[in-house]
Amino acid sequence: MNRRPGGADLSRLLREFWGLEGTFEALGGENQNHLVTTLDGSRYVLKVASARATREEVELERAAVRAIEASGVGVALPQMVPTRTGEVVAPAGPEPWPLLARLLTFVPGDSWGAFGAASPDRLAGAGWLIGRLAGVLGDLDVPAAHRTHRWDLTRAGLLRGEVACIRDPSRRKLATEAFRLWAGAAPWLAEVPHGFIHGDLNDENVRVEGDRVVGLLDFGDALRNPLVCELAIALAYLLLEEPDPWDAGARLVEGYHGVRPLSVRECELLFPLMCGRLAVSVAIAAGRRGEQAPREAWFTTEAAAWRALEGFAGIDPAEAADRLTARIDVTPHPDRGQARDELLARRTSRFSAALSLSFATPLKAVRGRGAYLYDERGRAHLDLYNNVCHVGHCHPRVVAAGQAQMGRLNTNTRYLYDLLAEYADRLCATLPEGLDHCFLVNSGSEANELALRLARAHTGHRDVIVLENAYHGHTSTLIDISPYKFDGPGGQGRKEWVHVAPMPDGYRGPYRGQGRDAGVAYGEAVGRLLEGMDRRPAAFIAESLPSVGGQIVPPEGYLETAFRHVRSAGGLCILDEVQVGFGRVGTHFWGFEQQGVVPDVVVMGKPMGNGHPLAAVVTTAAVAHSFAETGMEYFSTFGGNPVSCAIGLAVLDVVQEEGLQEHALAVGTRLRDGLRSLMDRHPVIGDVRGTGLFIGVELVRDRDTREPAPREAARLVDALRDRRILTGTDGPHENVIKIKGPLVLQEADADLAVELVDEVLGEGRR
Ligand SMILES: Cc1ncc(COP(=O)(O)O)c(C=O)c1O
Repeated sequence: MNRRPGGADLSRLLREFWGLEGTFEALGGENQNHLVTTLDGSRYVLKVASARATREEVELERAAVRAIEASGVGVALPQMVPTRTGEVVAPAGPEPWPLLARLLTFVPGDSWGAFGAASPDRLAGAGWLIGRLAGVLGDLDVPAAHRTHRWDLTRAGLLRGEVACIRDPSRRKLATEAFRLWAGAAPWLAEVPHGFIHGDLNDENVRVEGDRVVGLLDFGDALRNPLVCELAIALAYLLLEEPDPWDAGARLVEGYHGVRPLSVRECELLFPLMCGRLAVSVAIAAGRRGEQAPREAWFTTEAAAWRALEGFAGIDPAEAADRLTARIDVTPHPDRGQARDELLARRTSRFSAALSLSFATPLKAVRGRGAYLYDERGRAHLDLYNNVCHVGHCHPRVVAAGQAQMGRLNTNTRYLYDLLAEYADRLCATLPEGLDHCFLVNSGSEANELALRLARAHTGHRDVIVLENAYHGHTSTLIDISPYKFDGPGGQGRKEWVHVAPMPDGYRGPYRGQGRDAGVAYGEAVGRLLEGMDRRPAAFIAESLPSVGGQIVPPEGYLETAFRHVRSAGGLCILDEVQVGFGRVGTHFWGFEQQGVVPDVVVMGKPMGNGHPLAAVVTTAAVAHSFAETGMEYFSTFGGNPVSCAIGLAVLDVVQEEGLQEHALAVGTRLRDGLRSLMDRHPVIGDVRGTGLFIGVELVRDRDTREPAPREAARLVDALRDRRILTGTDGPHENVIKIKGPLVLQEADADLAVELVDEVLGEGRR
């Protein structure tokens, strides 16, 4: 423990370094601050802090105080009083790490909330001042400001775990919801203007006299941050005593906007950030209650923060943004569009019912960012399910690459342009040697169609081996090779040239639970299938890790064994990486690398353009040559156009530069382990499997018989959707919850998902 200097230490400090005698009174707040009254009645504040913190604060505070003074905004600020030797800090105590002391001039005024609600003038004045601070401080370049700390609002999610320390379950829920609001705002923070901020304009640090703000205290939390965080933090605290926080907030926002106009995006961020700050405050307070010697000062705003969170509960972000911007000319959430039910009716009137919608209550999405989709009410839904928006919904870098190229050149592969060669080089560099000839197309279906044509051209054979319950696309030929379709509703059964091998499922099937032996045994089953065929195969096609088949991780040795048989029968090995490629599996960039094999043809799609229609077939020179030898020209109007290539390159850049494969491994393992831990409490979870952010949770009615539980799975998916977590079901029995969302999923998101699965399954049992 850090020894707190006692009265004698303080007197000695004051005398020795500043040549002053005085009395001391401990001040509230986080730090070891004392009000000093000297013999002549002058007042100062003596601050004692760890040497590291003090040095940083000195640097930050000096820069900030100078800038604010120079601006002439007319507020009192704590000025450093030099020691007798002209220093601004003095050694204040040894153990266990050095302490330093500073003497600051006393800033007059009362705390913001000392007399209850603030007048409209004071609210507007505070808004004006905070807006001015953005201009005055924003551009300050102080090296020490490039830091983070516990109260850094851009990293509030790291404190979500502290919610567990909140004893009252309803309050725990309230704090969890507030953290969720923050998490929905977090993906946007990198995109709004940043600068130097005070970082803690709370009700103690903003000093007032009547209608006026007269002083500012404590720059100890200053840091570089989104500028809007300054206003959000002030709103979180300065509205605590307001009978009508919305009206008061709107006045403060109006004052701010008058000097520094807020963007639409910043207006939308205010409420989630306010709630995030309050959540951090109550969570930290709850955590500190468990400490050995809690200090009263740690809990001064706790009760008021809870009241505020209670007051904000259940209010939609879009509604809150409307209220906070009621007095300014900005329209937050301008994309709300048509009401959900009306839209549903309109859609139904224009589209075939074959075009299905997810969830019992369909989601209307108006925008996306990171791992989140936002509905028309501004509510963020955690997307654990969509593997197309691989590097995060609407990743700004991918969007910018597409926009820039669209304005420069968009043509087709009959012309020469650098991007085509550049993209092909980059793509092939991710693949094993030998896979070096590309065909760029527009969808996974188109790519699989082409893969089949390549195999048939190269081998001169027609037959195809597929896996049970596989899906490879929506064209006629692909439906023919997709048991999920030809054996499903509306399907017309298996064609004679199609041969179905067992799903290499380690949890179900004839070789379940046998580890590597199961892999080899399932591979041998492909060999037996080939032996039973009276023609040679053109190809074996499978997803490297079957997803539609039930989020299956094939047992080790499977592809190696199957490939050996297929190749010795003269067929090509095609692996469909449409769902699992580009780093999703965490350990490797491509799913097949986990099995130590190299296919003859790789098919890729969904994540490749992060939502832009871009897909590809990559194969060997020999196969590409055979295809050309047929004499038929190959052309796809849109495939590989410059815009697609620019987008594809940006996706590769983001995956590589943001370390998303490694991130998928870390966060995916955390999520899988969390879900697995629920098996102790919920017997309906029969299996949790996966790798990286490719995860399946298989629900069963009985763990011994493994009777599938599709109804329970559907119920779980809908209950999670109602809690704003998006998942889906898959597998032959539709009893596997599939999790395969954007790779940018955060740890806190994973933890939340585990908690909510736990909650829903707990309710199901009651
Ligand atoms: C494994 C697999 N392959 C191919 C496809 C077809 O891709 P697309 O819908 O882009 O045509 C899908 C689509 O879901 C798929 O899951």
